[in-house]
Amino acid sequence: MDLLRRQEALARERLDPAVHDYFAGGAGDEQTLADNERAWRRWWIRPRGLVDVGAVDTAVEVLGARLRTPILVAPVAAHALLHHDGERAGARAAGAAGSLFTLSTRATTDLADVAAAADGPLWLQVYVDRDRERTLRVLAGAREHGVGAVVLTVDLPVAGRRERELRNGELPLPDGVRLADHLGGAGGEGTKPLAGWDPTLTWADLAWIREACGLPVAVKGVLTAQDARAAVEHGAAAVVVSNHGGRQLDGCVPTAVALEEVAGAVGGAVPVLVDGGIRDGGDVLRALALGARAVLVGRPYAWGLAAGGQDGAREALEALTGDLELAMALAGCPSLAAITRDHVRAALW
Ligand SMILES: Cc1cc2nc3c(=O)[nH]c(=O)nc-3n(C[C@H](O)[C@H](O)[C@H](O)COP(=O)(O)O)c2cc1C
Repeated sequence: MDLLRRQEALARERLDPAVHDYFAGGAGDEQTLADNERAWRRWWIRPRGLVDVGAVDTAVEVLGARLRTPILVAPVAAHALLHHDGERAGARAAGAAGSLFTLSTRATTDLADVAAAADGPLWLQVYVDRDRERTLRVLAGAREHGVGAVVLTVDLPVAGRRERELRNGELPLPDGVRLADHLGGAGGEGTKPLAGWDPTLTWADLAWIREACGLPVAVKGVLTAQDARAAVEHGAAAVVVSNHGGRQLDGCVPTAVALEEVAGAVGGAVPVLVDGGIRDGGDVLRALALGARAVLVGRPYAWGLAAGGQDGAREALEALTGDLELAMALAGCPSLAAITRDHVRAALW
């Protein structure tokens, strides 16, 4: 998409090369990073004709949030490196686009400030700290800040080997900016992965996490039917098919391939979301056809924020939604509910 490509080019121009590397990069040889984008294109769309698409409706409900678009903002660390307005601008952009903002544990703005700035629904992504008290405090405070759901990321028991980051070294945050330590990430003044998170976490821990926040907990980082079933059995309110945008286990399955298996295992018990490599409206349509209720985007949103702050991020989200509307009209789908498994087939080449 032209606008997204322009924003990406502008972001590359504006950002320090090491900062650009931090956002663009993946783990290892970046095989999964590339596969994520490619894998969506390996599903061909099967359009239907003579369907009334005079009005195309992209409205959706996810965990109680009523949204105008099924394209949500994924948790992305350290927004202050992208734009001085940071997470506040991101949350406002999401609200203005009828979307939803997910605040990362590694944010550069405190939850209270983001909540005050946000005018749309807000979710909070959580990594569990070795110091459980710290995580418990974060979880206990989430609801009073108006957080609608907690997103527990399960694909980062330890940090992946991100070679660009290793090459560039730790990125300093802008003056006066620090990682928001109230989120349980132990604070810090740079982007270096912290050793503070608990690699001993298991499915059994979902119980106290749910109890501590009293909110729906979405489990992010599921790629198999086995984990999907475990998440549902342990009370997850939603499952997010994700490989962390190719930043964790290089060579793991692309999300466009994992999605159908996960959606099948969940069997409609809870909503399934997906992220990784979603770059246009056709990709969103493919994801919904394969069983997702909604999608999340990381880098396209990040480039929008870097290119134009709040307006840039909003424009990226609106461009993606506009492109989804077009794909839906051309495929004969007037609503998200009209998108079915029958609207895609595996590509032959
Ligand atoms: C720079 C960067 C930082 C990220 N930080 C987090 C994070 O703090 N927590 C998390 O759960 N996921 C994080 N992610 C993963 C995203 O939430 C999401 O899974 C991924 O970006 C989706 O892929 P996409 O960028 O191709 O859209 C991060 C991704 C990027 C690119």
